[in-house]
Amino acid sequence: MSDIINIAIDGPSGAGKSTLAKRLAQELNFVYVDTGAMYRTVSLYAYRKGVDKSDSETIKSLLPEIHMDMIYGEDGTQQMLLNGENVSGLIRTSEISMYTSAVSAIPEVRAFLLEQQRALGRTKSILMDGRDIGTVVLPDAQIKIYLTAAPEARAERRWKELVEKGEQITLDEVLKDVIQRDENDINRPVAPLRQAEDAVLVDTTHCDLEQSYQLLLNTIRERM
Ligand code: DC
Repeated sequence: MSDIINIAIDGPSGAGKSTLAKRLAQELNFVYVDTGAMYRTVSLYAYRKGVDKSDSETIKSLLPEIHMDMIYGEDGTQQMLLNGENVSGLIRTSEISMYTSAVSAIPEVRAFLLEQQRALGRTKSILMDGRDIGTVVLPDAQIKIYLTAAPEARAERRWKELVEKGEQITLDEVLKDVIQRDENDINRPVAPLRQAEDAVLVDTTHCDLEQSYQLLLNTIRERM
């Protein structure tokens, strides 16, 4: 019996997945893998080339030029290297978020990242977050969580984060983005966002970050 444990956390954007998953992984001594950052990194490459996000043919043709690595800071923060350049900050703008929403629907982009993601879970205990981890990437994960919250609650959290980083954007614009991205993620034909049958549903609409963290930690510990 292998003692490798995989934890999958899926859910819509702005549910607090990244922040919570990073902290949980540290507490449980797991490697944290943020798959959204991988999609964002592919997107940044195409975006910088000036490719329109709907031009899937050109985006596909760029994939062989993309090499990404993940390195980890002492606090467990995942840093993304795109062909050797640290792009961790550059992939977090709202523009790249919308761009990525389109790029992540391209089947070849998903296939390109799928094998890299699966390989990570084979050799070590990981806590991976994304949209299709429990359903597609790690269907055999021992623990699966579907983390969600009402769109308004998610938009407000996201908006605060962006404003703190100095982005000029209104709450209404962020809410529209959140709803649009949900729609894209849920309705795409390949690996759409949905709760795996064996995933535990955790709704954090009425929880602050600390309460959400405790809720998730308890949910995971009960199953370990
Ligand atoms: O979690 P995030 O906001 O960083 O994700 C960025 C985009 O990537 C989002 O539009 C959904 C997509 N994504 C995906 O399709 N599958 C994943 N496993 C992770 C993210």
